[in-house]
Amino acid sequence: MKQILVLHGPNLNMLGVREPGIYGAQTLEQINERLIQVGQELGVHIAHMQSNFEGELINRIHEAYGKCDGIVMNPGAFTHYSYAIRDAISAVGLPVVEVHLSNIHKREPFRHTSVTAAVSLGQIAGFGPYSYELGLRALVEYLAQEQ
Ligand code: DQA
Repeated sequence: MKQILVLHGPNLNMLGVREPGIYGAQTLEQINERLIQVGQELGVHIAHMQSNFEGELINRIHEAYGKCDGIVMNPGAFTHYSYAIRDAISAVGLPVVEVHLSNIHKREPFRHTSVTAAVSLGQIAGFGPYSYELGLRALVEYLAQEQ
């Protein structure tokens, strides 16, 4: 069974409370539950982790090497400036789908840049929690094609 890691970056533990006009009312727990359900439908195993610390996210990406088949990641604000997370993705060479709840391209200019997108399979942004589900489905489809 394919092993998929879902990584959530900083402040995403505050979903449900945090700027609901932008990020919606769903909590991170609800998003994870839905992804586990979709994972069951697709026949893949989902592990998930959230951290507010760059180094913890990097360590988790390293740990995924040799154990996971791919990563769905919302790097949060790290998207826009973390060369260290970008390098971690490159280092492990795992397929990553970058997801965002909001459409970062129609928000403040600093959010228009993603330093992680160039080392990802692709980016999905703007569909609220459904961005994660789309990202998971895209990754599973990619892994199926790859075989
Ligand atoms: C976000 C967009 C980022 O700009 C922001 O810093 C976040 C959430 C999103 O999911 O829309 O924390 O990644």
